[in-house]
Amino acid sequence: MAAGHPDIERVLVTQEQLAERITAMGAAISADYRGRDLLIIGVLKGAAWFVADLTRALDIDFTVDFMAVSSYGNAHKSSGVVRILKDLDTPIEGRHVLIAEDILDTGLTLKYLARNFRTRGAASVEIAACVVKEDAQEEPMSIPYVGFVIPNEFVVGYGLDYSEHYRGLPYIGLLKPAIYEGN
Ligand code: IMP
Repeated sequence: MAAGHPDIERVLVTQEQLAERITAMGAAISADYRGRDLLIIGVLKGAAWFVADLTRALDIDFTVDFMAVSSYGNAHKSSGVVRILKDLDTPIEGRHVLIAEDILDTGLTLKYLARNFRTRGAASVEIAACVVKEDAQEEPMSIPYVGFVIPNEFVVGYGLDYSEHYRGLPYIGLLKPAIYEGN
């Protein structure tokens, strides 16, 4: 849906900013992974939008797989519990894995996945996060590819949902508090 959704209080990252930044991330990733066996692993559902744009900004060879995990349920607070809902289709042993994640909040999901992929024998495991919430990580980790650092607030759009809604917004924005108050 175009700008001006009635439930959005404020746009934090515009469609133009996303496009420009993700193009630059694609260039950096292409330079770093040229000549390596790159597997991009998107974390469903939210990262699907980011993966689609990021991979179109790459000019190197790669393959893509997806995993679905749940750490949130339907509430807007992290439970810290990571459950695998859909596993990878292919083995990752010896491959260079780049996890593409829509948002890094506490970092629990990514920490779990990175450890899991190392256990499976990946040659390397790095992270590309479209947005990272400032000061939210419980144990800060180094993330080589970060799109945007945003305030520690609940956001929707560009794949991010509230109770499965708002994923299709082309920007990242804050919901009006009235939308989630009372839940
Ligand atoms: P973490 O494990 O706390 O880093 O949470 C990561 C997951 O929580 C993301 O992949 C999202 O699915 C969800 N999440 C965290 N913050 C937000 C938000 O502000 N809006 C929507 N989903 C979020």
